[in-house]
Amino acid sequence: MTAFDTELLPVTPEALARAGALIRSGELVAFPTETVYGLGADALNADAVKRIFEAKGRPGDNPLIVHISALDQLRPLISVEPSEMARALMDACWPGPMTLIFPKSESVPLAVTAGLDTVAVRFPAHPAARALIDAARRPVAAPSANRSGRPSPTTAAHVLADMDGRIPMILDGGPCAVGLESTVIDMTGDVPRILRPGGITPEMISAVCGAARVDEAVMRPLKEGERPRSPGMKYRHYAPRGSLTVVQGDEAAVIARIKRLYDAAEGTPLILALEGHLPAYGDRRALSLGKDVAGMARALFDALRQADDLGADALFSEAVPADGLGLAVMNRLGRAAAFHIIEA
Ligand code: TXA
Ligand code: MG
Repeated sequence: MTAFDTELLPVTPEALARAGALIRSGELVAFPTETVYGLGADALNADAVKRIFEAKGRPGDNPLIVHISALDQLRPLISVEPSEMARALMDACWPGPMTLIFPKSESVPLAVTAGLDTVAVRFPAHPAARALIDAARRPVAAPSANRSGRPSPTTAAHVLADMDGRIPMILDGGPCAVGLESTVIDMTGDVPRILRPGGITPEMISAVCGAARVDEAVMRPLKEGERPRSPGMKYRHYAPRGSLTVVQGDEAAVIARIKRLYDAAEGTPLILALEGHLPAYGDRRALSLGKDVAGMARALFDALRQADDLGADALFSEAVPADGLGLAVMNRLGRAAAFHIIEA
């Protein structure tokens, strides 16, 4: 792999023009979106796309999302007319934190879809993401810009920590507004099927489509030999180096249980809690997950990275109710904990 002097640049017209030229020449650029930072390459260039897998250390069977900056860029990527439901979802939620899966067209390289005959497409809302796609003048394939297995990056500093020397450029657009990756929805069946929950919630999708199914594997580990509908479900994402236990139930009981677990833990324990609960933990080591569920979505990946930096061996996190955006938070927390979720 080539070594680079990685440039970290604010989003200016000059930086965007250079970033677009890098993408056109088959190189990688990390860029902000409203969900997490992406690691972009020319989606129509199989060699460029292969570089993404190298830079991330990503398993070759995990497909990428193709990002567009206008609705008319969708049709050439897919082999069918979008259904009425898909069109309604696009009207309601694009541009935004939603990815739709369709049968792919010939123009999408199999390197992007990891050999699948479907393609995942997203029209992001972040102005810098859209400006980069415009500057590249082609769709941009982009996974989250973390090394494989690390939490997704929600700041340019997170990207630099994982990608320094591995890519030529990072565009710094500040912290991400949502903080968790997009909602991935399989649109190839009769009912939209959520393969990864995110900022567009099941409730919002049901309201638009009349129905929405959450894939069973969203809130449980895969069974032995089970083939997931989304290859990403196979991998232990977002895992901190220490063990993580998530505690759910009544507020007072959760706090009491976490204190007992912390006090009995060996090595360096660490608590992840809502900001308003921090005083209840006294002088135990604790990180804030923000004021509410939306704050938790924004803070979670940074907290998991900080836990590693602090050398935490045993992490104990408060849970949130698994509805609305809370489903996405609990999906990420659950995976980080290898689904070690206990009742207080
Ligand atoms: O918010 C996001 O979605 C961010 C930003 C950069 O757009 N991107 C992102 O990409 O999270 P990535 O590669 O980290 O996650 C994409 C997920 C993976 O779990 C992958 O398995 C799934 O989408 N996926 C992609 N194409 C698919 C397909 N054709 N069928 C099923 N799952 C697919
Ligand atoms: Mg990812």
